[in-house]
Amino acid sequence: MSPPVIVTGAAGFIGMHVAERLMARGERVIGVDDFNAYYDPALKAARAARLEANPDFRMVRLDIAAAEAFESLVRESGAVQVVHLAAQAGVRYSIENPFAYERSNLAGHLSVMEACRRQPEFQHLVYASSSSVYGDRPQGGAGFCEDDAAAEPVSLYAATKRACELMSFAYAKLYGFPQTGLRFFTVYGPWGRPDMAYFSFTQKILAGEPIEVFGQGQMARDFTYIDDIVDGVLGALDQPPERGSNRILNIGDSAPVGLMDMIAVLEDALGRKAEKLFRPMQPGDVTQTYADISRLRALTGYQPKVSLAEGLPRFVRWYREFYG
Ligand SMILES: NC(=O)c1ccc[n+]([C@@H]2O[C@H](COP(=O)([O-])OP(=O)(O)OC[C@H]3O[C@@H](n4cnc5c(N)ncnc54)[C@H](O)[C@@H]3O)[C@@H](O)[C@H]2O)c1
Repeated sequence: MSPPVIVTGAAGFIGMHVAERLMARGERVIGVDDFNAYYDPALKAARAARLEANPDFRMVRLDIAAAEAFESLVRESGAVQVVHLAAQAGVRYSIENPFAYERSNLAGHLSVMEACRRQPEFQHLVYASSSSVYGDRPQGGAGFCEDDAAAEPVSLYAATKRACELMSFAYAKLYGFPQTGLRFFTVYGPWGRPDMAYFSFTQKILAGEPIEVFGQGQMARDFTYIDDIVDGVLGALDQPPERGSNRILNIGDSAPVGLMDMIAVLEDALGRKAEKLFRPMQPGDVTQTYADISRLRALTGYQPKVSLAEGLPRFVRWYREFYG
């Protein structure tokens, strides 16, 4: 039997979907999550329960920054592949609670790398980075490309994600084990994250409350449907770079959508109009995100399949079922 794949952040949005897809193709998965209360732990528990219904899944409740415990888990499991998605996410919260990012993102990433580099025959560490590392760019230019220096993050969240990439470069050189950093672009879909705009707007619109539209509605995001993201994660996982490399790949839709257009699609899906309160840009926010996906496409044949017009109604259907 081949060793299990470890997925950190498995009670999270992307982690749950990645774990499901891995099991659907016959792999065993060990999920790791600390179930912290950054957002509704009941949603994390529901995702975990869904995974635990599968006998090929085991959940371990653990803070990844607890280096010794995480290392023992990797050693005892015999895992040679880790998909590391656990992190303190969110741009705005990184201004409110910066030390949560130090622990989960910096100490957490280091702890994961330390465990991987000590594991004999270790094959591939795939870890989550973020489009936010590109900093603030005006709209209208070309897609963001992985070769960009990405040296001017505008939030602490982005800075920690870029720092993880740099730590991974150093560890790839020092210890050789292959790594891939995935820069995700605004991921959305069923079982999504309540702190993200499409989710909180849905809650508010259904409750008849006004929504706060930041950046006066002028921002654009490269919204990427969760199934497309999972295609990219597994495609990258299956093709590790050569020893000594830390490969960086964008995973996006490569078709930015304006915030007001996103709201219009959501209003259609909900069958209700939103009352909009226009607000200035928030500190740490960026004007647009836009992925150049040619590198991932050349490597894996990656092609995003689900547009926002199709994917957002799928989220709304899930939301209505889940919250009743
Ligand atoms: N969703 C997006 O649009 C997006 C965009 C760019 C990057 N990312 C990155 O992708 C990854 C997954 O994001 P997501 O949207 O699924 O977020 P999420 O918050 O739903 O999932 C992250 C999970 O990690 C867990 N976690 C956090 N700190 C931990 C710790 N110290 N120990 C153990 N578990 C811990 C959380 O409890 C959570 O369940 C994160 O690294 C995030 O930064 C997400």
